[in-house]
Amino acid sequence: MMDILLKLIIVSLCVVVVKPSVIIQRYDDDCVLDPELVEEIASYQNVTKYIVNEIKAGLGHTMYQEYTEFIDKFGARPSGTDVLERSIDHMINLTKSKGLADVTTEELEVPHWVRIHESASMIQPHLKNIAILGFGPSVSTPPEGITAQAIVINSFEELDKINAKDIQGKIVVFDAHFISYGDTVVYRTQGASKAAKKGAVATLVRSITPFSIYSPHTGAQYYEDNVTKIPTAAITLEDADLMRRLQDEGEKIVLHINMSSTFDTKKSRNTIVDLKGTVHPEKLVIVSGHIDSWDVGQGAMDDGGGMMISWFVPVVLNLLKLKPKRTVRAILWTAEEAGLVGAQAYLNKHMDDLHNINLIMESDEGTFKPLGLDFAGSKKARCIVQEVLKQFAPINKMENSGYPGSDIVIFVRKGVPGASLLNQNEKYYWFHHSEGDTMNVQNINDVIDCSAFWAAFSYVIANLSVDIPRT
Ligand SMILES: *[C@@H]1O[C@H](CO)[C@@H](O)[C@H](O)[C@H]1NC(C)=O
Ligand SMILES: *[C@@H]1O[C@H](CO)[C@@H](O)[C@H](O)[C@H]1NC(C)=O
Ligand SMILES: *[C@@H]1O[C@H](CO)[C@@H](O)[C@H](O)[C@H]1NC(C)=O
Ligand SMILES: *[C@@H]1O[C@H](CO)[C@@H](O)[C@H](O)[C@H]1NC(C)=O
Ligand SMILES: *[C@@H]1O[C@H](CO)[C@@H](O)[C@H](O)[C@H]1NC(C)=O
Ligand SMILES: [Zn+2]
Repeated sequence: MMDILLKLIIVSLCVVVVKPSVIIQRYDDDCVLDPELVEEIASYQNVTKYIVNEIKAGLGHTMYQEYTEFIDKFGARPSGTDVLERSIDHMINLTKSKGLADVTTEELEVPHWVRIHESASMIQPHLKNIAILGFGPSVSTPPEGITAQAIVINSFEELDKINAKDIQGKIVVFDAHFISYGDTVVYRTQGASKAAKKGAVATLVRSITPFSIYSPHTGAQYYEDNVTKIPTAAITLEDADLMRRLQDEGEKIVLHINMSSTFDTKKSRNTIVDLKGTVHPEKLVIVSGHIDSWDVGQGAMDDGGGMMISWFVPVVLNLLKLKPKRTVRAILWTAEEAGLVGAQAYLNKHMDDLHNINLIMESDEGTFKPLGLDFAGSKKARCIVQEVLKQFAPINKMENSGYPGSDIVIFVRKGVPGASLLNQNEKYYWFHHSEGDTMNVQNINDVIDCSAFWAAFSYVIANLSVDIPRT
């Protein structure tokens, strides 16, 4: 358990706390490619149209049906649970039933945090239920719960300025408004330890979302070494606003929190589906998404949709009898939500083989209307990708946030070119990590369009005469 805790902390420091709000670069027309390569890329227009049309005409509808059945049959698939393992078995079986036998798994140890009971209420200035959702792996409260005065704080800067004696023994309520996920999620991931250092007994955090119909949003958090572990949970925007107003109105706020959970480790698996390359089977174009989810909602959006369209790439190319030069590998990561645990295990295991990853892709920010790619790689590489994207117009937007995907960012940091799906996901965080993440968020035509683009683009990259150049 200690080992996993350490791993989580290390991962959190380098990974989870990232995506910056701005630094979006849009590429322009300063690419000069070899005319023969431009011509070669243009010659793929026929086959990309074919793939897109076949997926839209029928194959994509079947995939969407299989996706819906998967989500409805298994629902939420948290790290370390039996239901996650059964859902992995289901995808293995489904792969084989679609005629692709090359499916393997790689076992690893994953965190298993189980929410048992959570409740909270405001006792002063009046009695009111407070909806909470603990952050994994929060510790439990004592059985009698915690009853304490609350102090509402906007930011870590404000926390730094307040005397420890004014925080000692209190419940810190972090009320940071959503700017971007990366900017705001730090209150969820780091808030407990920062408040504990000043003597807080628990933290409640304004949910990391710009919108709420009284919905708390969960997610991972990380305790620092040698700092008292205190219970930590999300509250709704409505209750955060209420407590902020009460404090400004000079009211004393007293809360009662009761939380219990268990935490251990279990075995899980990354699932690998290969369409073996005809000329360079050792070279890989990886398409991926994570099969695990949080324990609320159905994990339909995060990341059922991304997992499904990625799984479908080798499956549909095989159905269409298109055999690219390089291997097209779909990876269904496990335990992403617990801190990119599956991806980290894959990276460690395949460290000597990273040079063979031509491009690594992930869809984990929604499968709404597709727009293009968020790409990280050398200038030459993005010129090639941009040239390929031209034939998918209007799905040809290209950005460089520096943070493509979630799992794949650790590969990108090792110099592997990476791309994630840009899509019209303005409402992604409305549903993210909440009971609202269900099939109702998904739109069949958008998911099919994502799938068609994802498969056709991957095919071109996997069959090009040139590798995607590194820096
Ligand atoms: C594309 O398909 C059309 C009609 O199917 C054919 O006439 C044309 O030669 C093809 N082009 C290439 C580059 O394969
Ligand atoms: C997968 O297939 C195996 C072998 O046919 C079967 O025993 C198992 O129940 C299936 N699992 C799921 C989750 O469908
Ligand atoms: C806290 O929750 C636990 C588990 O449901 C329950 O046994 C206990 O009585 C609760 N404590 C209080 C003070 O409500
Ligand atoms: C935590 O405490 C232990 C034992 O005192 C010490 O060895 C370790 O370096 C500390 N870790 C950090 C991050 O301060
Ligand atoms: C894929 O590459 C092979 C080998 O270079 C080539 O013969 C084939 O035409 C390519 N496929 C397409 C659709 O261009
Ligand atoms: Zn996700």
